[in-house]
Amino acid sequence: MTFKKKILCIGAGYVGGPTMAMIAHKCPQYKVTIVDINPTRIDQWNSEKLPIYEPGLKKVVTATRGKNLFFSTEIEKGIKESDIIFVSVNTPTKTFGAGAGMAADLQYWEKTARQILQHAESDKIIVEKSTLPVKTALAMERILTSTNNSIRFDVLSNPEFLAEGTAIKDLEDPDRVLIGSRETPAGLKARDELVEIYANWVPKEHILTSNIWSSELSKLVSNAFLAQKISSINAISALCEKAEADVTEVARAVGMDSRLGSKFLNASVGFGGSCFKKDILNLVYLCRHYGLEDVARYWQGVVGINDYQKERFVMNMMNAMFNTLAGKKICLFGFAFKANTGDTRESPAIFISERLAEERAELTITDPQALDNARTDLEGVEGNISYIENPYEASNGCDAIAVMTEWDIYPQLDFEKIFHSMVKPAFIFDGRNILDHNKLFEMGFNVFPIGKPPLTHF
Ligand code: NAD
Ligand code: UGA
Repeated sequence: MTFKKKILCIGAGYVGGPTMAMIAHKCPQYKVTIVDINPTRIDQWNSEKLPIYEPGLKKVVTATRGKNLFFSTEIEKGIKESDIIFVSVNTPTKTFGAGAGMAADLQYWEKTARQILQHAESDKIIVEKSTLPVKTALAMERILTSTNNSIRFDVLSNPEFLAEGTAIKDLEDPDRVLIGSRETPAGLKARDELVEIYANWVPKEHILTSNIWSSELSKLVSNAFLAQKISSINAISALCEKAEADVTEVARAVGMDSRLGSKFLNASVGFGGSCFKKDILNLVYLCRHYGLEDVARYWQGVVGINDYQKERFVMNMMNAMFNTLAGKKICLFGFAFKANTGDTRESPAIFISERLAEERAELTITDPQALDNARTDLEGVEGNISYIENPYEASNGCDAIAVMTEWDIYPQLDFEKIFHSMVKPAFIFDGRNILDHNKLFEMGFNVFPIGKPPLTHF
């Protein structure tokens, strides 16, 4: 079969895999190849057990793999034969040198730019899919035009807004697809080519075009606003606990104002995930770079409240359990940073586990998808930690349960049975407010929700 266009994606991760699988699924006329430097990851994408868990992903991949979707380690070949190259490599927080702990580490990004320059033999459109600091496209352009090889490269910004756990739904029916370009005739032409791909399934009014810097910045700002909403309600949850108000009721009242919206107002043990913290710190770093210290401090506060909320959760456990956790057995319900994913990057459960282990509590961790990652995350942590998939077995003999992830299996569990298997007094700390607190209290549990008065028998 001859394909209309050949698309390459560099980086077969949480973003590259699902986004390209969706393009391949919706555009059978395009050949889509995803390459990665990690051969194990590519083998997994080519196997029955995909490297990431995402509802609906397997169906899309198996429908297209080997037809117009290919996973490979042949980066050089991929670059040579492609017309459009998406770059979806990781851009973690820098851990060394200038900007350590704040700025984005662009080494993987820059390497791909150099690889493209080295192997390209024809004109290409380069699409920034990774989340990047504003003005990265300029650096990309400078690298790509650093030789006189007469090849034309047009750089576009097309940030990804999918959330883990709902990636396929988000890709199939996105709120918006954002495409930024240089506003030159060549830039606009390249932008039109990318619009044409998405227009295969995304309504035109959801495809937003802008100048390239607005597009790059909009991604960081979107994540910052989302995280800010969570930190706002989490800050208020602390006040609710003092003032005997109920954060769910407050969130409902506030969220019914259509100017504010009801989403992302669930108070929690804190936000996690690979991106919120990293992207806000990146934004803070950018503001400092431009001398905007007050703006930087404002956004830094969003991360500050998140750290406060996690520590507050541990201190609430400690206070409730008579000021000592040493030797007590605590079962964590969930380890993933959110439901419907096995991803544990920056999961609040990591910090909570470390703190509880520091207090010498014994930990049992249960999660339907994330136990392998949990084991890796807690490898260096000293203490007695066990990993058990069955929540009944995991909570057997425990003093307390702490809900870390909002998996929908948890509210459906037989808590009478769980209560009878636990040490008394039995405690539940609901870090996601997903359980029926009154019912648990009536069963005999001492219940500590987030942002609501505790229900205790003493
Ligand atoms: P990831 O770590 O899961 O995947 C990145 C992949 O790139 C890895 O498999 C790595 O081996 C590969 N890679 C690195 N350098 C390479 C190179 N030179 N050549 C080929 N492959 C290379 O990361 P991710 O979660 O997919 O995130 C990618 C980008 O997308 C980040 O900038 C992130 O901020 C952004 N983003 C992520 C999400 C998300 O939900 N995870 C959502 C929106 C945006
Ligand atoms: C987030 C954004 O929602 C995506 O739009 C973005 O593309 C992505 O980051 C990214 O750039 O990586 P994700 O981190 O996958 O997606 O998941 P979210 O649903 O945003 O949840 C993030 C964290 O906030 C989770 O720990 C979640 O449990 C927590 N959260 C979310 C709350 O504590 N309360 C809420 O009301 C909502």
